[in-house]
Amino acid sequence: MTEKKHLGVNMKQSAITGLGHYVPETIVTNDDLSKFIDTSDEWINSRTGISNRRIATNITSYEMAAKAVQDALSNHKLQAEEIDLIIVATFTGEYAMPSMACLVQKEIGASKAMCFDVNAACSGFVYGLDIADQFIKSGKYQNAVVIGSEKLSQILDWEDRGTCVLFGDGAGAVIIESSETKGIHGTINHAIGENYACLTAENRINKTPYYEGRDDHFLKMGGQAVFQFACTKVPEVIREVAVQEKVDVSDIDLFVLHQANYRIITKIAKRMKVDISKFYMNMDKYGNTSAASIPIALSELSKEGKLLGKKVMISGFGGGLTYGASYIQF
Ligand code: ACO
Repeated sequence: MTEKKHLGVNMKQSAITGLGHYVPETIVTNDDLSKFIDTSDEWINSRTGISNRRIATNITSYEMAAKAVQDALSNHKLQAEEIDLIIVATFTGEYAMPSMACLVQKEIGASKAMCFDVNAACSGFVYGLDIADQFIKSGKYQNAVVIGSEKLSQILDWEDRGTCVLFGDGAGAVIIESSETKGIHGTINHAIGENYACLTAENRINKTPYYEGRDDHFLKMGGQAVFQFACTKVPEVIREVAVQEKVDVSDIDLFVLHQANYRIITKIAKRMKVDISKFYMNMDKYGNTSAASIPIALSELSKEGKLLGKKVMISGFGGGLTYGASYIQF
């Protein structure tokens, strides 16, 4: 039987059955940045593993999101009008209202879908996946699209060399469907709101007759605190998921972590005593694309034929502070 009894409810299975991504055409190299801020390719590359990033010059965040979904749908039997649920993980949308998910619905013609956004910063994709998975496993929906789309370039302080060199723009999307076999085994997400100040991007607040307003909306980061947080909490939550889902960490084929920094990933691999070759990395091409980084990486792996049949652990970490992991079989 494909359904399992859980707390007296008939739970279904879910699986990721489609993947797609979109990155803007404009490539900005480390050398390009060194023309207007005091930095160098050597500094950036040796500390982060980043060589290039894509910057959106003539496309919105929701248009990138829609292109990622269209890529995922392009060789999938599902039609846009059959999509039940659209969740976009983002904190860099052009609109505070409506949600980016509603704009994606409009762009792709997914007229029956329930639409909303999730803000869990760089963990947003893992949070969104967890929510969509619950909708499908409960039987409420047959399918869902989860997207990570970020246009970080529009909230960076381009005079702050400590942050502007780290990030890039892009979008990734997955299609999740009710399934006969187990695909998304289980996900665990956490937050440490107490430490929120390590990583923030404040909203612009208009001046009113009653309030002076606020105009400083740049991304701010305590780099070393974020580094320590990621290296400690990511191994913890991966182990937590592995115990919950009864899988040995050594049996995982591939680890797809948020692509913030190769040094963070290398340290996590070492702490977990897992060979670094099992950790996919593409931050050299795209920089840190926040909620988009995991679905972009998964989509690239899928296009290269490296996902099918694989046991994959994904893990996100970022502003909130938030972190989470999911064990998925492709
Ligand atoms: N180019 C040249 N020099 C720089 C640059 C730059 N781009 N940025 C900072 N520096 C300088 C600083 O001014 C400082 O100079 P000083 O010693 O003369 O004062 C020196 O380099 C060291 O600065 P630190 O900030 O202490 O550098 P650190 O070694 O910590 O490296 C880094 C910074 C790479 C950001 C590191 O802290 C890190 O990797 N942190 C993790 C951050 C991260 O990945 N965040 C994203 C995850 S969450 C999310 O995705 C939103």
